[in-house]
Amino acid sequence: MPLVTSKEMLLDAQKNGYAVGAFNVENMEMVRAVVSAAEEMHSPVIIQTTPSTLRYETPKMFAGMVKAAASDSKADIALHLDHGSSYDLASSALDAGYTSIMIDGSKLPLSENIEISKQVVDLCHAKGIPVEAELGKVGGKEDDVVVEGVPPFTDPDEAVEFVSKTGVDYLAVGIGTSHGVYKGEPNVNLDVLKSIRDVVDVPLVMHGTSGVPDETVRKAIKLGICKVNYATELRIAYSDAIKNYLKENPDVFDPKKYSEAGRIAVKELVKVRIGNLTSQ
Ligand code: 13P
Repeated sequence: MPLVTSKEMLLDAQKNGYAVGAFNVENMEMVRAVVSAAEEMHSPVIIQTTPSTLRYETPKMFAGMVKAAASDSKADIALHLDHGSSYDLASSALDAGYTSIMIDGSKLPLSENIEISKQVVDLCHAKGIPVEAELGKVGGKEDDVVVEGVPPFTDPDEAVEFVSKTGVDYLAVGIGTSHGVYKGEPNVNLDVLKSIRDVVDVPLVMHGTSGVPDETVRKAIKLGICKVNYATELRIAYSDAIKNYLKENPDVFDPKKYSEAGRIAVKELVKVRIGNLTSQ
């Protein structure tokens, strides 16, 4: 199938009370792993890349790989720019064929976050592509975005203003999750999520989900989360599988052999995550 946008899949998830997994990829093996997991689970999926991944390889290269993998598959696949850091990056991802764009102005004052998000919405909507933006903050480190200490939650009143002034299609919310590996138990504030859901009706996005218990994720889905992002645990699964393979097979030097171990590990993990997100 050709790529689809994330719009219909997230509206369907919102209507029917489940969530679509959004999985960060770094290379061809991870692309293939996510697409074949989606295919086997008969589920839509979002494949996403961060700005640092797009410095490692170009939007054109990732779009080419994802389009090729999707064309062999019956699953609905969207390709998303995660934590887009500028108008220019959003524009080059769009030109390369990305079918979903995030602009992350969450480190800016509210008025500037509204301004940049609205500019990206105007750019993308002119081409029929939906936009995610972030208000409040997700803790930890994702790529170039580092948030120290306890991040501020999304303020529901600001969320209403933000969504109406920008026209964004989805809102990433700060509810206590953190990017990267959690130190201790994640402290997800479902009351904050509920108070945002009560006043904002676009699909909501959970970032920093690696390490969040499946049960908490399911509760968050009942409170309006429709897109759930996983990055760190895929990177760990991929790397650990290759490290283990090479430990057990120290004489192997063919990348096809050890990369396959990484691909299988990511695929199995993504299947488990999709199963949780769709088991409401
Ligand atoms: P994790 O790295 O915690 O899974 O977060 C992923 C994410 O939110 C990508 O935007």
